[in-house]
This record gives sequence, structure tokens and C-alpha cells, in this order.
Amino acid sequence: MRGAGSLVVVGTGYQPATHTTPEALFHIQRADKLFYLVDPVTALWLETVNSSAESLEDSYAAGKDRRESYDEMVLRVLKPVRRNLNACMALYGHPGVFVDPSHEAVRRARSEGFEATMLPGISAEDCLFADLGIDPASGCQSFGATDFLLRKRAIDTSSPLVLWQIGAIGVPTYKRKQENWSPLGLNILSEVLEQRYGPAHEVVIYEAGRFSLGRPVIQSVPLVCLSKAAVTTASTLYVPPIASNGGRR
Ligand SMILES: C[S@@+](CC[C@H](N)C(=O)[O-])C[C@H]1O[C@@H](n2cnc3c(N)ncnc32)[C@H](O)[C@@H]1O
Repeated sequence: MRGAGSLVVVGTGYQPATHTTPEALFHIQRADKLFYLVDPVTALWLETVNSSAESLEDSYAAGKDRRESYDEMVLRVLKPVRRNLNACMALYGHPGVFVDPSHEAVRRARSEGFEATMLPGISAEDCLFADLGIDPASGCQSFGATDFLLRKRAIDTSSPLVLWQIGAIGVPTYKRKQENWSPLGLNILSEVLEQRYGPAHEVVIYEAGRFSLGRPVIQSVPLVCLSKAAVTTASTLYVPPIASNGGRR
């Protein structure tokens, strides 16, 4: 028999309030208990929308393994569900894109007989497609940068490539600072990409604008300069395809 508690996992996109779908807002408002992991402005907004709002940010701690933090977040979110309450977990971006605890919380809630749903949100890649004017119609390869390097992923250089988490390559622990957590990892990534695309190939270090009037940060650099570029934990790398005539598209 199904428990009376439920879980809905929603995304708040990258802009406070305006990137949240009406469907997600409905669940944020009606939740008996709301948890969130979002930027500070969105956090203030969520707190006005639902007075039960509680940040999950304190599950992170400097030097703590991020997997440990994720396990803790899952337990926190499931607690009210097990008490037969309706819980909502609101995460920036799309809640299921490059996020472990959201999928795990849904899986675990369902395995315990509770209703659990994930709703789509606006991801960094969605913003990137819009801001850089890219249509993935000819394919789009998308990998976590650590996974890309560790598993030596095969790539097609005639199709766009998006690499996530280029500011945290190979780093399992949490750090407070926003700048690149792994200069060595970025260096290795640059070398691997240079071998495939050549050192002069221009790539884009992309950061979606976080506020309604905030513009995205778009840095174009040749691959040879990537390891010295200003990269943060919010950077996503766009590698354009090499045109079939050998030039860049
Ligand atoms: C844990 S993942 C979360 C992704 C998020 N769930 C989404 O749907 O976009 C963090 C990664 O998302 C990307 N990211 C986060 N903030 C970003 C921003 N403002 N602009 C572009 N990419 C961003 C970066 O690749 C970063 O390393």
C-alpha cells in the first residue's frame, strides 16, 4: 500500500522566480516541507513563497566528501515523506541534470512505497543553447569533464561538445571557494582537447546570467589558453565542431 507522504523534485532554472515553471511553483507552494539548494536571491524568494523552506546548503562542508553530503540531503528530504507529509526539493537548473541526490531521493521514496516525481527545469545547457545560438540538431555530446577524462570518452569532432564541471575535475570533496578547484585537472583537459581539435581551436567558457538583468559570461579562448582562463565551479565549456572543410564552424 502507498504511504500518504510524497516527494516532488523541481528545478528553479538560473533566474530567480522567472525560470520556475508554474507547475514547479504549484508544488513549491503546496509542500508541507520545502528544501532548497539554490542561489541566495532565489533562496529569499522561496522563503517568501513557503515558510517551511529549509536550505540544504549546510549538508556541504569544506573538505567533506560530496557523496557524503548528497547522502545526508537524501535522508533530510525523505524524513518528512516518511512522516506522511508532502515534501518538495527545489534545486537550481534542471533538478535531474548532473545532480545525484535528486534522483536518489526519488528512487528511494518510490522503493519505500511513496509517490515521487521529478519535474523538468531549465538547465545550464538550455541557457547555453539560447545564449550561444546553438541548435543541437546535428547532435550534441554532453559529458561531465571528469567522466570525459576518466573514461576516455570517444567524441565526434564534427558535432558540438559540452563539458560540465570543468572547475571541479577529479575533486570529490567540497570547497568553499568559487574559483577553479582543480587547475591540474583543467590542464589535463586542455591537453586532451588540443590533441583532437588543435591548440588554436576556439572554445567558449560559459556562465549563464543569474539575475533577470544579468548577462551571461561568455569567454572565447583558443584551447592553448584554456588552462590559464578564468574558470569557476559554475563554468560550462562549449567546444564547437570542426567544420568538414577543416575550418571552424
Ligand atoms: C552540479 S551541476 C548542476 C547543473 C544543474 N542541475 C543544471 O541543470 O544546469 C553544476 C555544473 O552546472 C554547470 N553550471 C552551474 N551554474 C552554471 C552557470 N551559471 N552557467 C553555466 N553552467 C553552470 C557547471 O558545469 C557546473 O559545474
